[in-house]
Amino acid sequence: MPRGPESPEIAKEAAARFAVGRIGSERRIALGTGSTAAWAVRALAERFPGAPGFTFVASSRATEDLAKGLGLPVRALREEDRFDLMIDGADEVSAALDLTKGGGGALFREKLLAQLSRRLVIIVDEGKLVEHLGARRPIPIEVVPFARPVVANELAAEGWTVRVRGDASGSPFRTDNGNEILDLTPRQPLADPRATHEALRSHTGVVETGIFAGMAERVLIGHPDGRVEERRRPDVGHRQD
Ligand code: A5P
Repeated sequence: MPRGPESPEIAKEAAARFAVGRIGSERRIALGTGSTAAWAVRALAERFPGAPGFTFVASSRATEDLAKGLGLPVRALREEDRFDLMIDGADEVSAALDLTKGGGGALFREKLLAQLSRRLVIIVDEGKLVEHLGARRPIPIEVVPFARPVVANELAAEGWTVRVRGDASGSPFRTDNGNEILDLTPRQPLADPRATHEALRSHTGVVETGIFAGMAERVLIGHPDGRVEERRRPDVGHRQD
């Protein structure tokens, strides 16, 4: 991957190393998806070779393959699973620390694992910061393929600019769950992400949205010079199990 002076990879790696360096007694860890989360997986494998005593569940096949290839003991999700920590990236982080996720198509599994985690720690480079979600990147939603034309039509009628995400061959992209992704560009950035999430979810055929409102316990922002800045929400991250 490119690592020139302007490359965000240095910033992503710095944030990921910072997050992994902070791990204390946490041993049940949910793994995110994307290029930044991949840095965290590499840092985990480096800091905890073979990771004896750890439980890892991955939010995508891609992350599972990467982690297993590095010797981390990743297994399938079980009914009793709860996680001490999830480390994941994001596509946008708002000033209120709400997130847009799903650029890599893993939003459903990411959200499920995040909901099972006591703390969701988000690692990003500074290019992901926005005032309000939807400022720079579309909002991805996962939809059932059968319903997709109907959902797309309904959302276009509501004013969204709707794009069916394609894969390299031009076919609709398929998630690990066999569904499709619609990338939704709003008329204007989201004033109330939670309300937008609820409105989108109310359409039959929408499996999940990439809006993660009030879920991140902290956000670690990497900078190209290797500095890492930490922003924290005191009101989340206290789920007990
Ligand atoms: C995966 O579906 C996404 O939610 C990613 O976490 C998000 O797109 C960030 O990816 P990068 O770290 O590659 O920018």
